[in-house]
Amino acid sequence: MKNLKPALALILGLIVVSGCGHATRRTTSVFTNDWKFHLGDTAGAEQPGFDDSNWRLLDLPHDWSIEGNFDSLNPASPGGGALPGGIGWYRKTFTLPATSAGRHIFIDFDGVYRNSSVWINGHLLGKRPNGYISFRYELTPWLKKGGENILSVRVDNAQQPNSRWYSGSGIYRNVWLVAVNDLFVDHWGTYVITPKVSASEATVLLSVTVRNAGAANRSADVVTTLFTADSVSVAEATSTVRFGTDSLQTILQEFTVKNPDLWSTTSPQMYSAVTRIVVNSKETDTYTTPFGIRQAVFDADRGFLLNGQPLKIYGVCEHHDLGALGAALNVRALERQLQMLKEMGVNGIRTSHNPPAPELLDMCDTMGFVVIDEAFDIWKKQKNPFDYHLDWDAWHVKDLQDQILRDRNHPSVVAWSIGNEVPEQSFTDWRTKTADSSGIEIARELASIVRALDPTRPVTAATDQVEGPSNAVIQSGVIDILGYNYRHKFWKDAQTKWGKKPLIASESASAFESRGDYTMPSDKVLRAGMGKMNLNPDYTASSYDNYSAAWGSTHEESLKEFMRLGYMAGTFIWTGWDYLGEPTPYTWPARSSYFGVIDLAGFPKDGFYLYKSLWTDKPVLHILPHWNWEPGQVVDVWAYYSQADEVELFLNGKSLGVRSKQQDDLHVMWRVPFEAGTLKAVSRLNGQPVLEQEVRTAGKPARIVLTPDRTVLKGSGSDLCFVTVQITDEQGNPVPRAGNAVLFTCTGQGRLVATDNGSPVSHESFLSASRNAYNGKCLAIVRASKQGGTISLKAASEGLQPATIEITVK
Ligand code: GAL
Repeated sequence: MKNLKPALALILGLIVVSGCGHATRRTTSVFTNDWKFHLGDTAGAEQPGFDDSNWRLLDLPHDWSIEGNFDSLNPASPGGGALPGGIGWYRKTFTLPATSAGRHIFIDFDGVYRNSSVWINGHLLGKRPNGYISFRYELTPWLKKGGENILSVRVDNAQQPNSRWYSGSGIYRNVWLVAVNDLFVDHWGTYVITPKVSASEATVLLSVTVRNAGAANRSADVVTTLFTADSVSVAEATSTVRFGTDSLQTILQEFTVKNPDLWSTTSPQMYSAVTRIVVNSKETDTYTTPFGIRQAVFDADRGFLLNGQPLKIYGVCEHHDLGALGAALNVRALERQLQMLKEMGVNGIRTSHNPPAPELLDMCDTMGFVVIDEAFDIWKKQKNPFDYHLDWDAWHVKDLQDQILRDRNHPSVVAWSIGNEVPEQSFTDWRTKTADSSGIEIARELASIVRALDPTRPVTAATDQVEGPSNAVIQSGVIDILGYNYRHKFWKDAQTKWGKKPLIASESASAFESRGDYTMPSDKVLRAGMGKMNLNPDYTASSYDNYSAAWGSTHEESLKEFMRLGYMAGTFIWTGWDYLGEPTPYTWPARSSYFGVIDLAGFPKDGFYLYKSLWTDKPVLHILPHWNWEPGQVVDVWAYYSQADEVELFLNGKSLGVRSKQQDDLHVMWRVPFEAGTLKAVSRLNGQPVLEQEVRTAGKPARIVLTPDRTVLKGSGSDLCFVTVQITDEQGNPVPRAGNAVLFTCTGQGRLVATDNGSPVSHESFLSASRNAYNGKCLAIVRASKQGGTISLKAASEGLQPATIEITVK
């Protein structure tokens, strides 16, 4: 492994060329407040003198699509969420402090959907078609020192459809203003690897690319100190470097860390490498690179090994939207998504099908998820008329390179996916019906781009054309990990067919479930659109793991196969959370997915407990369905359980028998003639009770119960409280099918920003202050202001006793 250092030098192509220091160091400021926004195209808005006084004032991140109304005629179609696209303009007026004279100023966009054009003071800085990539422009030459500057951004999401899922529109991720002196660590200028890792010692290699944007030759000390998460310094290296005029130079530094705190999914220990550039005892720059010390290996026989220990990847695929908040990044909303997935036992995320928000990877690092970081859903061949194939030729190299450069220091990232179900898998062009092997060349090109920038991680691709004899992407020979989307009956033959390589189910299930619905498909309109569908062979009229996409499987089907094939490295459920768009197999009025194990509002579906029972070591006992049926109706009652060897079910105190899972069963079942009252389950281990759960027949809706996820928020202006609304009867029993309209009133140091109920067919605006409950529940999302104080949220509904909660903002 020692020889990795010269290899790294080669990979990075050392340019040894050439520098004077300022006392003020780098500043990185979030640049999201007080932007002007205009929906629609307008002439001349890039010009500094343009009058934007009538435009709306808002803070970024911002997604204008989510503010619109659902309409099947919106060009994104229900597949894109049935929300509007269009063109939007953003402008920001700013002045820079006098201390910025002589500094280099950059603007960093984490993501703009899509086709952005950016101007500073009327000068076009550039265009970026890809809606998911992060990018930077230098502003320096066009800035007015001491005067007003105008940044203008045009965002064009008018060409539709361009996505199979909801994309959002606008500057939907963070924006940063970076100011540096003229000798500084370049953009994404560090790369950390940990080639040797053991419990007693780790080798850390760091490359630092420094830009001398100053005229003079100069020498500087590049000093890097490694710190633990508790700020204890554990190693340091100093390199004295001579910089040529206007040059880039890459410096390699090697460190030994004794008794390292290894990064893992259960103990996600982070370090930071703090690099200081010092000229004549003055620091010109300080740059921090968070990293982790871990060894991640995929093995054909043993699956995935983290620090030498086998670790099954219990993964989910996730799209980037945040439900009712749309695509606009909010750190707390994303954290909530990950926390719930963690609770379910998930330890892996696939960023389907594009580079995620940088904050997602930061959270995966610190919360302990491994990540498959995916680049593309489209190569040169289209899936939708206006998708990325239009930009492929001009942009794919740069987009992929930028993703790798941005993301390669995250310990959570364990593999790169170069594509999802690309049509180039086929050796026959589906349009022209002519022979085509471009999938081979493109896969090879992409893999070589990845390996040139990060030789430490394997390359994978999510493939679905695996039943036939050929697949150009796999047969390119560059795929290190076989990634199967669905086709669980073919998993067992994958290694004989394509060669013995590590195997993951890059997508599994695509099973349909709507929270609290047990009679699916219930709605005639929906049923009409169901099309092809896989029906569980064990189907019974009232069982609960029945439906999936024709290409998919029910949760239990793919879970059983995954557990049987012990050598598989991991599985990634399609999907963890529901997402906007792709209501497959339904059509309008449906406008969001049915695939999630957690619904769009963040309420777990029953499948959540199935996975939790298998993927965590916490005791689980979950019975379903609800207990409001017609007298005499025969109802199947299921229980998912774990950390117990049996479950006994009682109806109104009378035992209905003890059940335990046999062979590969994943649930137990009783067939019960309905009788109103209390259904109670008790799980036991060695005869001792472990858990109890009761489900009661509910009476009429009578009350509203509000449960906030947290009662103390930060006064940062972006912190959120997610308030669950449960409709109950007079006795406090949840009313399973309640659909009462709830009206929210929010006062004090916060405002109501969105409401939802998790129903994929609701057409109420997410911005609405009133929301019908769906199967007894709905959600209010409250955003704290920047001032401390109290928020009061009241929920009222005709004929129901209202409820009020207080939330503190600190
Ligand atoms: C897969 C695809 C996903 C999603 C899913 C729905 O084929 O990769 O993006 O469309 O099907 O089942």
